Amino acid sequence: VTTISKDGKHNAAPMGVVRRDDSLLIRMFPGSKTLQNVRDTRVLVANVMPDPMAYVISAFGDLDESMFVLERGLIPPKLKDAWAWAYFTCAVGPSIKLTPVRAHVARTKPPAYSRGFAAVIEAVIVGTRLRFYKDDEGTRKILEYGTIVDKCGAPRDIEAFKKLKEILKID
Ligand SMILES: Cc1cc2nc3c(=O)[nH]c(=O)nc-3n(C[C@H](O)[C@H](O)[C@H](O)COP(=O)(O)O)c2cc1C
Repeated sequence: VTTISKDGKHNAAPMGVVRRDDSLLIRMFPGSKTLQNVRDTRVLVANVMPDPMAYVISAFGDLDESMFVLERGLIPPKLKDAWAWAYFTCAVGPSIKLTPVRAHVARTKPPAYSRGFAAVIEAVIVGTRLRFYKDDEGTRKILEYGTIVDKCGAPRDIEAFKKLKEILKID
């Protein structure tokens, strides 16, 4: 999800868009820049991203500014390599309710399942929630996902997982 702060700074973070019949929402936990930006600006873009590295970097830090692209007449920016994107206005409540404004599918492919990509994403989720695990349980989970990434991952998955371990200082 890409957002913009009230002083114009771009942000990206992985977020789960949930569909309930005909409504769309995101449950945002307190404390993220994304939630703050949405509270302040009431807009966001959902980007469909194929690159596991984008999840790793944006979950823990900032994507390079060159990754953000402005779509004519719309804020905030979308992501350069998104296969699809949708602009939403947001109603802020216990969850963020999304109303679509404009959407575009730039690229598609048959939905072949990738265990390697999925394992990177699961490991990033655990990484963002490490403080909720007992002792080194979270770290051990991440390393288990690592064995799947090694076995089934594409080179970009392996690179993204390596970056994740660097960020989290896991050997
Ligand atoms: C695949 C994935 C999905 C996520 N979904 C959510 C979500 O739905 N809601 C949420 O609050 N955080 C979610 N997170 C965690 C946020 O991405 C994480 O807290 C991030 O640091 C927020 O970044 P920000 O401060 O730049 O907004 C998700 C993480 C991953 C990897």
